[in-house]
Amino acid sequence: MLIYNQNISFVLRGINDVAFENRPMPKIDDPYDVLLQVEMTGICGSDVHYWSNGRIGPFVVEEPMVLGHESAGIVVEVGAKVRSLKVGDRVAMEPGISCRRCTRCKEGNYNLCAEMAFAATPPYNGTLAQYYVLPEDMCYKLPENVSLEEGAMLEPLSVAVHIVRQTNIKHSDSVVVFGAGPVGLLCCAVAKAHGASKIIAVDIQKSRLEFAKSFAATSTFEPGSGSAQEKAQQLIQENDLGSGADIAIDASGAAPAIQMAIHVLRHGGSYVQGGMGSDEIAFPIVAACTKEITFRGSFRYSSGDYESALHMVAGGRVNVKELITGSFAFEEAEQAFQYVKDGKGIKVLIEGAHFFH
Ligand SMILES: *[C@@H]1O[C@H](CO)[C@@H](O)[C@H](O)[C@H]1NC(C)=O
Ligand SMILES: *[C@@H]1O[C@H](CO)[C@@H](O)[C@H](O)[C@H]1NC(C)=O
Ligand SMILES: [Zn+2]
Ligand SMILES: [Zn+2]
Repeated sequence: MLIYNQNISFVLRGINDVAFENRPMPKIDDPYDVLLQVEMTGICGSDVHYWSNGRIGPFVVEEPMVLGHESAGIVVEVGAKVRSLKVGDRVAMEPGISCRRCTRCKEGNYNLCAEMAFAATPPYNGTLAQYYVLPEDMCYKLPENVSLEEGAMLEPLSVAVHIVRQTNIKHSDSVVVFGAGPVGLLCCAVAKAHGASKIIAVDIQKSRLEFAKSFAATSTFEPGSGSAQEKAQQLIQENDLGSGADIAIDASGAAPAIQMAIHVLRHGGSYVQGGMGSDEIAFPIVAACTKEITFRGSFRYSSGDYESALHMVAGGRVNVKELITGSFAFEEAEQAFQYVKDGKGIKVLIEGAHFFH
């Protein structure tokens, strides 16, 4: 039995109010739990949003909450019944625990569980701490050639894997991805791994498009002026998409992107909403109806998505390292958040809290 006396954590106390707190050590209270030392954590748009707004939609930070949910770590203690992991194993940490009993859980869609306890979604504490406890089956052992940095990146990659899974993509499909932030870029990479024929990244920032082109997009599109329909026509013509794209993915949440996406699709095309922006928007419902668009939402990830993400990274089919543009020491966590808020870099990581030892 290991004895630790500190668990330094990066805590959101209120809007723009963060602090390091020495919190109680998390306990293994189920025989299938493992205790992890957190080694690497990516900062997500949602973490920054809670920091600067105190809420996302219905989720409101009312009690101090540890931030962070995109982590990888090392096993430091295992529960009595744990068989798949041992002390010293490096793992990617899937940061949400569902009830495992409800109908959604039992059908494999545990991301839709009403009882989901998800790290750094209020009121649940996140992973930006020295230690964190997870059930063993939420930990994905990293092969030797997958780093802890890449392990942390499996979280946003799993989001992209889930989005692309919702499209029912086939080899040779053409895919248009709106929004070239981390999730949009990873959607491009996953579409590529699935054999998409054309992958067109759309964004209003030139620098993001340049990166998308060097990463996984086959071409890019910067919308100019004009109606959503006109811009969609221009994209279709420039990219020789015939009667339209097979698949459109929104990873921006921006109304103009969503409107354009519907117009860019062919008849019978498939649309997936991954981005979260305004609660309600004006939507081209008649075009969606007459084209018989399949519309699906996508939320986090569920059965098999983390496994797929790890498989893609380990097999060298998706290079998540290219997205990592900076890393900060744990004690610089607030500066790291400011850096992301200022729109710098693509994906920024925070290292484990070793300095406190
Ligand atoms: C978050 O951590 C604090 C300190 O350990 C604890 O008091 C609180 O109950 C935790 N929140 C939840 C929802 O578990
Ligand atoms: C990692 O190792 C596996 C198994 O040896 C190999 O198949 C894979 O190509 C390697 N991946 C990378 C990214 O080097
Ligand atoms: Zn995230
Ligand atoms: Zn459930």
